[in-house]
Amino acid sequence: MLILGIETSCDETGIALYHSEQGIVAQQLYSQIKIHQEYGGVVPELASRDHIRKTMPLIQKVLKQANYQLHDLTAIAYTAGPGLIGALLIGASIGRSLAYALKIPAIPIHHMEGHLVAPFLEYKTVHYPHLALLVSGGHSLLILAKAFSEYEILGRSIDDAAGEAFDKTAKLLGLDYPGGPQLAKLATTGRAGVFQLPRPMIHRQDYDFSFSGLKTAVLHAYQQSDQSAQTKADLAYEFQQAITDVLVAKAKRAIMNTGCKQFVISGGVSANQVLRSRMQQQCDELQCQLYLPSLEYCTDNGAMIAYCGFLRLQQGSSSSDLAIQVKPRWPLNDLKL
Ligand code: KG4
Ligand code: ZN
Repeated sequence: MLILGIETSCDETGIALYHSEQGIVAQQLYSQIKIHQEYGGVVPELASRDHIRKTMPLIQKVLKQANYQLHDLTAIAYTAGPGLIGALLIGASIGRSLAYALKIPAIPIHHMEGHLVAPFLEYKTVHYPHLALLVSGGHSLLILAKAFSEYEILGRSIDDAAGEAFDKTAKLLGLDYPGGPQLAKLATTGRAGVFQLPRPMIHRQDYDFSFSGLKTAVLHAYQQSDQSAQTKADLAYEFQQAITDVLVAKAKRAIMNTGCKQFVISGGVSANQVLRSRMQQQCDELQCQLYLPSLEYCTDNGAMIAYCGFLRLQQGSSSSDLAIQVKPRWPLNDLKL
């Protein structure tokens, strides 16, 4: 089986080919960062227009890269939500129409389910049950994955997602979009103990998160500081520690309460080195197996969508519906389109 994956939910055009025996055989990722940088965030209309320009050429490129033709495809998987509606519609329209022309199944994929299976791309099989911390620009979720497509949401952010908190805090420290990786870089020169930020909801016995207060705390501390380069780095350091402390504490609670011995972190924020190593330590301590996606599969990519499409096809679900349907808001525990 050969599955084409199309990801266009936000500001990255991700295209990949997944082969059932060989795994990912080709992939391309085009990031729109430069287009959105001058606006300090993603401009939805510009994102859609650029996906139109890039999707077909990148599909041709991955086919050429792996020496395949369109008619070799078994199915086409595309991100149907959640995400920016215009951006989603580009991938969905191209994916659905191509599949129709080729008389093959089209498989609408939930973007967060793509992130969930991404760490297993390198293992060729997904291990259930597992706990998952999905931390991206739009979501912070703690999940119990009982089986493929069977997800219990244990906790979520009640306000900003972890990635959103990274991005907003980075912006107020004067860093460029996208702020998360920049803030993490700045934090490497920051010092421990200079600032003391809150760890929101860390002692609450549930699995929910709240990150917007943390951003406000950084703002106040920054306004009252000398605003020097070292101060910015110290604040970035403490912010990263605070957010990691909360994420790791909630993950630990979930492992202890459920007794689950397998854990996944995924989504853009799982590229954060401090979070990765703290989670590794915590899981080792609790003798829980940690599955971490390699860096290229943490942030948005076409490979996770192609792989998720393969898993869905294996499970026997593909869509014969010709409607081009997307869901900008789509809860992970209700996967019906
Ligand atoms: O999964 P993703 O690529 O897109 C969404 O589905 O949202 O996640 C993007 C988010 C952004 O908020 C970005 O700042 C954050 O992931 N991110 C990071 C790092 N790399 C990406 N946050 C903290 N540290 C990083 N190294
Ligand atoms: Zn994502």
